[in-house]
Order: sequence, then C-alpha cells, then structure tokens
Amino acid sequence: MSQTVTTRPFQDQRPGTSGLRKPVSVFQQPHYLENFVQALFDCVAKDIVGATLVLGGDGRYHNREAIQTILRIAAANKVGHVVVGRGGIYSTPAVSAAIRKRHAAGGIILSASHNPGGPEGDFGIKYNSRNGGPAPESLTERIFSRSKEIDRYFIAEPQHIDIDRPGTYRLDTLNVEVIDPVEEYAQFMQRLFDFERIREMLQEGLRISFDAMHAVTGPYAKAIFEDLLGAPQGSVHNGIPLADFGGGHPDPNLTYAAALVAQMQAPDGPDFGAASDGDGDRNMILGKQFFVTPSDSLAVLAANATRVPGYKDGIVGVARSMPTSRAVDRVAAALDIPCFETPTGWKFFGNLLDADRITLCGEESFGTGSNHVREKDGLWAVLFWLNLLAVRKQSVADIVREHWREYGRDVYTRHDYENIDATAAHGLMNALRDRFDTLIGQVHAGLSVTAADDFAYDDPIDGSRTEHQGLRILFGNEARIIFRLSGTGTQGATLRVYIERQETRDTHIDADAQVLLRSLIEAADTIAGIRKHTGRNAPDVIT
Ligand code: G6P
Ligand code: ZN
Repeated sequence: MSQTVTTRPFQDQRPGTSGLRKPVSVFQQPHYLENFVQALFDCVAKDIVGATLVLGGDGRYHNREAIQTILRIAAANKVGHVVVGRGGIYSTPAVSAAIRKRHAAGGIILSASHNPGGPEGDFGIKYNSRNGGPAPESLTERIFSRSKEIDRYFIAEPQHIDIDRPGTYRLDTLNVEVIDPVEEYAQFMQRLFDFERIREMLQEGLRISFDAMHAVTGPYAKAIFEDLLGAPQGSVHNGIPLADFGGGHPDPNLTYAAALVAQMQAPDGPDFGAASDGDGDRNMILGKQFFVTPSDSLAVLAANATRVPGYKDGIVGVARSMPTSRAVDRVAAALDIPCFETPTGWKFFGNLLDADRITLCGEESFGTGSNHVREKDGLWAVLFWLNLLAVRKQSVADIVREHWREYGRDVYTRHDYENIDATAAHGLMNALRDRFDTLIGQVHAGLSVTAADDFAYDDPIDGSRTEHQGLRILFGNEARIIFRLSGTGTQGATLRVYIERQETRDTHIDADAQVLLRSLIEAADTIAGIRKHTGRNAPDVIT
C-alpha cells in the first residue's frame, strides 16, 4: 500500500556538478529527501515505470536511512526492480558498470564524494542515466524546476528491507534485489587486466599499500588486492567503511592522504601506493618516494595501453580536461590518435565515450577512466598501474622517468587560494579577461605570451557550446598558466592557478616542480595580480 503525502517545495535543491550536496542536517529535514527523489521520478517517469534501477552509496552517515526511504518511494512510483548494494555500499564506478550491464534505466548514488561525512558532514544524491553516466545538465535543471513546485510525493508504507543480506525481497509490487557488488566489479576488472601476472608479481615480493580512507573502496580493495591477487593481509589500510570516514577527509591527494604519503617516503616503505576517495572514483598513484601527478598518470596509461588485455587492440583517442597538463597530447600525437580538450567535469567525456571517439580520459583532479564505464574509476586506475608494473618489471619512478625522457616532461603544479571573497575572485578574473589584448607578446619568465583566451568548448557530438571555463595564458607549446574558479567549493570562492612548462633538458627532468616552475609562478602573480586582488601572499594548497 502506498500513500500520497502533501508537501511544500524547498527552493535550494539545485544539483551541482555531481548531484545535490548539502550538510546532513539539511537532508534530515522532514520531506527534504522525499521531495527531491519524487521530483527526480516525476522527470524520468516514462523511463522508470516497470524498469530497473541501481541504488547504493558510499556508506556515509544517513546512507542506510536514505536507502530505505528511496525504496519506498520507488515502490510507490511503480519502479519494477531495484538492485541494491549489500549494506547500501556501492562505489560510483560500480554503479555505472551495473547500470550498463543490466541495461537499467538508471541509478541513484548517495554520496558527497570526497567531502567529509558524519552528522556534521555532508550528504549527497545523484542520478545516473541509462549509459551509466551522470545525468546531463538538461535533466538536472528539470529536476530542479520540478523540485521548486512539488506539492506531493508517493511513498509505500514503512517496511524494513534487510539490505545486509543478499537476496530478493518484495516491497508492494517492487522487486528489491540485494547483491554483493564487490564480486561483480571484481569479475569485470578481471576481464580488463591480467590478474595472473599481477599475482605473480606480488608473490615475488612487490609490496603494495592501498589506503581506502574508511570509504567505499575498502571491501572492493580487500577482495581484489588481498583475496584475489594475494597481497598480504594488511596491504589495504582503513578498509572498513565508516559513516564518518574515521573523522578523515576522504580525498586522495598529498594533503589528505598524508599517512600513505609518509609510508611511501620511508626508505624501507612499499613499492607501490594508492588511495581512493569517498565514493571510489578518484585515485592517487605513488611509487617509492615518488608521486605521479594525475596528468602524468593519464599520459603513461595512454602510452602503455596496449600492454594490458582490456586495451590490447589500441586506443581510438584520448581526452583531458583543459587544466590537465598537455602530457597526454604528446602521447596522442605520437600514436597519431585524436586528443580532445574538454571543460572540467567528467560529464564532458560522456558524449565522446558514447560515440567511440575516445578510449581513455582523465583530469588533473585525480580522475582517470576509460570507456569501460561512464564515471572515473579509482580501482581501475590502480589495477592498470599494477598490470603495467607486472609487465614492465620496473618501478613506478622508472616508468615515469623513462616516459619523460621519451616525450618530455610537462612539469606541473596547481596552486589553490581557498575561501576567498567571491567579489574579489570575479574581479581578478574580469580584470584579466579585459587585459587579454595587452598581454600578447609580453615576455614573462623568459617566454613570450602567444595567446590568451577564455576557454569555450564546442562538443563535437551534440554541437552544444560551453563557455567561460577558465582563462588561458599560452606561451606557445612551451608553457601555460590557467586561472579558473572552482565549481565545487561550498564557502566563498576558490581560485585555482594551474601552471605547466615543458622540460626536455635531461639534466633538469627530475627536479622538483616548484623549483622548475618558480619564475612562471611569479609570472602568474604579475599577470593576474593574485596578491593584490585576494590579499593573500601564498596559496592554501599546492598539488
Ligand atoms: C568533481 C568532478 C570532476 C572535476 C572536479 C573539479 O570532482 O567529478 O570531474 O574535475 O569536480 O572540481 P573544481 O573544484 O576544480 O571545480
Ligand atoms: Zn568521488
């Protein structure tokens, strides 16, 4: 039996880049989640009646309650079948894979990605469409419009579904199938990578350390690295998903995965280290005393793709977000395949992947992926690297250094100025844009400015145009400085300055990025007046 509940709309349910993200307390307001889910179902009604949906989340606080509520709303909206991850745990890439495998109408992912969790943390919900990728903006905008006028939702009577026990359950006319998502994902990965070879490498003594950051990848990593590949127990750290991620910030970078970084710095530390974020789509790759920038990681994977089973026939093309370094461009040129430059945000890769124009893609923001799903995939990237190590029998650092010697190194850094005054941030961007003409021909850091523009992207598949995606100062093929305001921050504005310069001198190729880029970093301030506009003398975070 289901009932119709009268409700009043909330005005703040606009999904951002990756769904609706708000503090847990906002989601705990009566009717808040119900309204949003009903608004979503109202917008996709013709797709979901009698159809299959996939449902799960990253295990953060409020995940379990939200799943029970969504199941009841799905039943009342006549959804046919819902596949739920055991314990409500489902990584973002695994949901994407499950939607595609089952030809489901879509999926609902409960996550706020790398934002902290717990009662004081954030919660989030996003919808993925039939292709397994995030809902396009046209749909999320319709959901937002609908959420502002919604006056009722449909919900089945409370009935508890035991989501911890795999099996099939009935909720009115809805079939609920609780599955172990880890097994399905692990099988999928075995079709792409040479598990036998990786297992041998680990048996021969290569030591790995994976930090699941008490987030969703823990059970996946334990099953894959320890059980299937035979890495010693304990190779996976923080492997139990916790509702508050153990109080940590589940974002795999040099700042938040500091414990792993320290472990990898030790002379007797592991040979290979990696971490993933809250919902399992990001990755960070480390060697012994060596950090692989996400931009370099993408380039190395592209250059070596044919060495792993899933890509042995070659790759048709690659794509990177605009601020991601141009390292992969050089690989694409050598392979004679297209390289697309898209705005920041994984959704911009979707059309290229669907149209089979690219096989691999990645972003500087610790995202790497391929046409196997429509999300970035943290564990996939880690397995790709392990497969490469097993085939090449070299260390992470040696593989990357050899890559630099062959293609040149795109020395790269990102400087973030967080929580700055929004007016000041826009003032900086506007003033810089207004001065584009005067910049051409100016010499900074010994390099001449050849072009300056406000990045816009024309999607080659659907013809849509996306503007104002970041200001680019180009120094020919040699170097770039990019200024961009973050689209994911929650407080004030965050200015990101991305700086890169090609280095081909053998004597310098290995040097520290901050040292190699010093004069360009100064040039960034001269060109944009960062100190003057923001009042800050130094960035808050350097990656
Ligand atoms: C999310 C998206 C990524 C994107 C990143 C950019 O994580 O999933 O695709 O690269 O946001 O974040 P920013 O704060 O730079 O806008
Ligand atoms: Zn994420």
